[in-house]
Amino acid sequence: MIVVPVDLGDRSYDVVVGEGARHHLAAVLPVGAGRAAIVTQPGISVTVDPGCESEVFFIGDGEEAKSMATVEDLCRQWSRWGLTRGDVVVAVGGGLVTDVAGFAASIYHRGVPVVFVATTLLGQIDAAIGGKTGVNLPEGKNLVGSFWQPSCVLCDTEVLRTLPEREIRNGFGELAKYRFLGLDTPGATTIEDPLLAETVAACVGIKAAVVAADEREAGRRAILNYGHTLAHALEIDGGFDLRHGEAVAIGLVFAARLGRALGRVDDAAVARHESIVGGYGLPTRLPSGATVGSLVSLMGRDKKAIDGLTFVLDGPDGVETVPNVDTAVVARVLEEMP
Ligand code: GLY
Repeated sequence: MIVVPVDLGDRSYDVVVGEGARHHLAAVLPVGAGRAAIVTQPGISVTVDPGCESEVFFIGDGEEAKSMATVEDLCRQWSRWGLTRGDVVVAVGGGLVTDVAGFAASIYHRGVPVVFVATTLLGQIDAAIGGKTGVNLPEGKNLVGSFWQPSCVLCDTEVLRTLPEREIRNGFGELAKYRFLGLDTPGATTIEDPLLAETVAACVGIKAAVVAADEREAGRRAILNYGHTLAHALEIDGGFDLRHGEAVAIGLVFAARLGRALGRVDDAAVARHESIVGGYGLPTRLPSGATVGSLVSLMGRDKKAIDGLTFVLDGPDGVETVPNVDTAVVARVLEEMP
């Protein structure tokens, strides 16, 4: 197993990556944990053995399940089962499960420990790491949440081979992002690649270092949103059949083109973005039907957009947040996207 530490003082934890990592669950539970409330979804076939008394609690599928109602329901079920702060929550699933169960764990009895068994590539390299938990409101995504670090994260690369093709692509979209944040070698480009565990661990290591430096996103942590400003707009628009990672893929290419338009990067950087993103079989073009006006307006509502249109862009000093980007330039770059 590869163990990647997330260094956060008394909230530090390990991310354990490798084939069969889920079988280490009993060994990584917090010392003295009495019982385990396992939170998962009916469609997830990954089973775990916490080595203590446990009960499985199911939550629904899809963004509708990422709600305050699901959190209330979970907390009420835990209460009826008698979950206490001497016990542990174990979330088994992708980002939706770890976000919802992590948030519920953070507020139930003012906080119970949580361990994540991440079962998707996206979850393993991103959603399960970093401590941001939360749910959606009808008014928008991830508007309610908390910072609640897990006690340990298990990233079992064996279970990734059972994922549907589209879910794998979803993960590779987020993985492509790390190629511009310090992942210098391509590593695994397919789920069958023998380098998979090493590549997942390398992405986790990059995220862990950024989170350790800026746990509460006061500054540097925003670089993890590289490619995400346009991606979120494409996702909110809702008219396109795009998974998050696919939207990020398009967002990465757009970010490079915007960086070039602002004189921050050159043609070679744009070509590199297109070749890396395309190399994972991910989209590099705007979906048909996308309209520039609507995307610009949605990007203006991004959480980063405190000082005008704000983007995370590559440049001479690497990837960083760039506020007050001229709307006309953004619109022109979008219009020129193939
Ligand atoms: N849970 C994802 C993050 O903290 O970034």
